[in-house]
Amino acid sequence: MKNMNQLIEKINKLKKDRKAIILVHNYQLPEVQDIADFRGDSLELSRMAAETDAKVVIFCGVHFMAETASILCPDKIILMPDILSGCPMANMITAEDLRELKDRHRNATVVGYVNTSAEVKAELDVCCTSTNAVAVVNSLKSAEEVIFVPDKYLADFVSKKTGRRLISWDGYCPTHVKILPEDIVRQVRLHPNAKVIVHPECIPEVIDLADEALSTSRMCKYAKESAAKEFIIGTEIGIIYRLQQDNTGKKFYPASELSICPNMKRITLKKVLWSLEELKEEVRVPDDIRKRAKKSIDRMLEIK
Ligand code: 13P
Ligand code: SF4
Repeated sequence: MKNMNQLIEKINKLKKDRKAIILVHNYQLPEVQDIADFRGDSLELSRMAAETDAKVVIFCGVHFMAETASILCPDKIILMPDILSGCPMANMITAEDLRELKDRHRNATVVGYVNTSAEVKAELDVCCTSTNAVAVVNSLKSAEEVIFVPDKYLADFVSKKTGRRLISWDGYCPTHVKILPEDIVRQVRLHPNAKVIVHPECIPEVIDLADEALSTSRMCKYAKESAAKEFIIGTEIGIIYRLQQDNTGKKFYPASELSICPNMKRITLKKVLWSLEELKEEVRVPDDIRKRAKKSIDRMLEIK
């Protein structure tokens, strides 16, 4: 504990010296969440990076999130305490794969989840997050065909909500597919009064058993506003720490203890300190890709 306090003191001092801000995703380790200047979902963090006066941003999340921050604010120094924190789902499609898919559907409008590399975003017509995916697809009324990559389960969820056929990709989140229908059934048996909230990256059989399928930011909002006192949470378990902190008096149970994203857990306080000391590892998206990728994010931000 003494070591931990010393580490936190050093981080806070160096953060001031470097005029840095620490942004932390909802799935990060509790001790990393505790040193956050701002905690949120992937898009909230990128927006925060763009809004802050700080020149240096320590981004505690996965690689595509830091890239999105770099796309939105190229004048800032975006640093990741562990550059190997990637998102396996984002790595399931390359720009080359998407170009081939587009060649096969030349009239299709291309929607891509924010969980993609900057190179893939540069190939999109419009980006989306799990918060606005349904609204984004609903806005494409005149599109002949719609491609939706890379998450096949989010695509299935959006297709059911919008009534549109989507051309999807065989991508998925290895962490969310660990949550099984029997996990929900077991937890509901143990906590019969709890509301069941899951992420739309879960498999359809799990979503079918839930009261709501929500993005991480919407989960936080829902938990605050709901009159319910207990919740079964079907997403990466790191969010339970935040939900519990924000809602004392309410109880949160993970749907499955196995839904851990190992990449999110790579970032530690020691690595945050190292990042501030060495000003490493910088994530910067090359200008040509950045400009094209930004168009797909800007188009998303215009959709209400
Ligand atoms: P958010 O966009 O809600 O932060 O989620 C990102 C993610 O990786 C979900 O698994
Ligand atoms: Fe990617 Fe899944 Fe981890 Fe989110 S939880 S960062 S989608 S692997």
